[in-house]
This record gives sequence, C-alpha cells and structure tokens, in this order.
Amino acid sequence: MRLRRATTLLVAALAVAPRPGHADPNDTPLRELPGARELLIGAAVMNNFWSAPDAEEYTRALATHFNALTPENQMKPEHLQPQRDTFRFEAADRFVAFAKEHRMTVHGHTLVWHQQNPGWLENGQWTRPALIAALSNHVATVVHRFKDDIAIWDVVNEAMGDNGKFRESFWTRAIGDEDRDGIPDYIGLAFRFARQADRDCILVYNDYGAENPNAKADAILKMMRDLKRNGTPIDAVGFQFHIKGLKFDFSEFRKNARRFASAGFRIYITEADFAIPPPVTPEKLAAQATLCRDMIRAARAIDGCGGVFWWGLTDRHSWLNSPQFGKGGADGLLLDRDYKPKPCHAAVREALR
Ligand code: XIL
Repeated sequence: MRLRRATTLLVAALAVAPRPGHADPNDTPLRELPGARELLIGAAVMNNFWSAPDAEEYTRALATHFNALTPENQMKPEHLQPQRDTFRFEAADRFVAFAKEHRMTVHGHTLVWHQQNPGWLENGQWTRPALIAALSNHVATVVHRFKDDIAIWDVVNEAMGDNGKFRESFWTRAIGDEDRDGIPDYIGLAFRFARQADRDCILVYNDYGAENPNAKADAILKMMRDLKRNGTPIDAVGFQFHIKGLKFDFSEFRKNARRFASAGFRIYITEADFAIPPPVTPEKLAAQATLCRDMIRAARAIDGCGGVFWWGLTDRHSWLNSPQFGKGGADGLLLDRDYKPKPCHAAVREALR
C-alpha cells in the first residue's frame, strides 16, 4: 500500500518535472510555438559563426529558436564576387548547409546595394551596357546557384533616400533612367534578372525608415506599384525595423503595411532590433519586451506577412556594439550577452502562443 502510494507520488512528480532540455520555460523553442507555423522567425547570422570561440552556444541557440536565417554579411557582393567574375561561395554554402540540417528557411541578403561592394564594382569606370552586364552576371549567377536553397532574396536594398527621392550611387550614375519612368533602371533590371534565374523565389525590396507612413514609405510604395504595373516581378517589401529610443507606434505600422498588402505585396520584417540607450535597466528591458510583443502581434495580424527576422542572435554579437552603428544604443536582440533569454524573449513567446 505504502509502496503503491510512493510510486503514485513518484509518477506524479515525474509528470510535472521539466523535460530534460526544457528545464526552464525560457528555453521553450520559439520555432515550436503555434505562431511560428504561420510566420518565419529568423535571425541574421554572423560571419563564420562555425569558427567563433562560442560556436557551440551560438549554433545551439540559433537552431533551437529560429526556423529561418539570413547571413548578416556573407551573401553581399563583396563576399560573393570579390574579384570580377570570381565567385566565392564557401561561406554562403555553409549557411545553406546549416539551414538544411536544421530545417530552416534561408533569406538571402542582398543582391544589389550601394554598400559592401567589391572595389572593382563600386570604383569601376562603367558605361551603361557594361554595368548592366555586370549586374546581370552577378544576380543571375548567385540566384541560379542557390535556386533550390534560398526561398527569399533581398534583390535591391536601400535604393530610396529618406526624403523620398532615389539615392544616388554608382548604379544610378552609370545606368540612369533611360525609359524615363522616374525609377532608376537598375532596380527593375535587378528584379527581372533574379526572376529569370529562379521562377519561384520571393523577390523583396528592402529598406529602413519606411516602417510607418512617411515620405519614404510613400515613395517606396509608389515605386513598387509602378514596377508591378509595368510587369516587373517584385513580390514583397522588407521593413528593416532598426528602432532607436524604445518608442514605436505599431498602429501606424499596421496601417502602412496594410497599404502594401492591399497593393498585392507580401510583407517581411527583415532586420529588427530595438536598441537600448545605455545603461540597460529593468524598465528599459520591459519597454523593449512590449515592443517585441507588439511587433509579433502586428505581424500576425497583417495579411501576407511572411516573417520576422531579428538582426542578430545575441547581444554579444550585434552590429550595434560597434561605435559606428551603435550610436542610439545596443542590446537590441532577444538573447543577452551571455545567451540568456531576455524579457523580450518571453514577450515573443507569449505573442507566438
Ligand atoms: C550591417 C552588418 O550588420 C554589419 O556587420 C556590417 O558591417 C554593415 O552592414 N541594413 C542592412 C544590413 O541592410 O546589411 C546592414 O548590416 C545593417 C543595415
């Protein structure tokens, strides 16, 4: 009798005991929550993470929580085509292999940008046909090579200025706007070359500072509508979401994103971080958590929103830690500098339930 009672108690204790590996609710894998069935939950992944001193912790956290990844730098042109016509795919291949091994979607970043280009491209003396040929060669080679492995590509990144006028760069200067439709021709060409190389991939225009309705968002929406109208294959808009100051109006974002959705575009949140101006305090961590919760709620409420990506995995390795990029603060991600889930991680868990 006593023995049976003890057995019952033991069984009951085991039933409530945390499962090994899930000892702490903090460890609940985000990717296993119901919301992650509708949304990609992604992180930008640092360069050569496989050889970092903390590679083991890094890969465990990445594969535990995320069902998608984007290489933070190593699919940019300076990495993929350092010399003209010499492509280097070793690092990119490792990202893809890691993603496959862990059943993660790859979001490629980025085919065409005014930054992080190899010298031969950015400082070349280009005629219009020669630069179009180089554009075509880069986009076609890269997209074709990964056509079975990369589901989403940022095709053009940050082509719009904050004033709603197109940014000038070596792309606009050499290629111009010969059809005089008000949109620099390299943009539409890049999308066309990408589509020719992969019929199925989701093609994204990605930018910052256009999360809420403003001159820049208006100009991007107009550009995307015009491109679509003239037959350019463009599927989605990426809102970067690098937010400073721990303030953001998500009702404005919902309004803005719905305009893009009504125009037939999918929506991605591509590079989220909510920088904390130092020092980090419990109040600021709580404010950050509210923002992350509201971001996930907004993403789930917007028709056609395909995913939310943070611009990094842990505050230990965030671009905001560099003096150049971290002027408005740092510690903008879900895991702290010791890989511990922060209050914003709990808030995301709650919003994904
Ligand atoms: C950043 C990376 O995080 C840094 O490591 C790199 O030095 C510069 O670029 N918008 C983008 C990203 O589209 O490519 C940028 O990434 C961050 C801003």
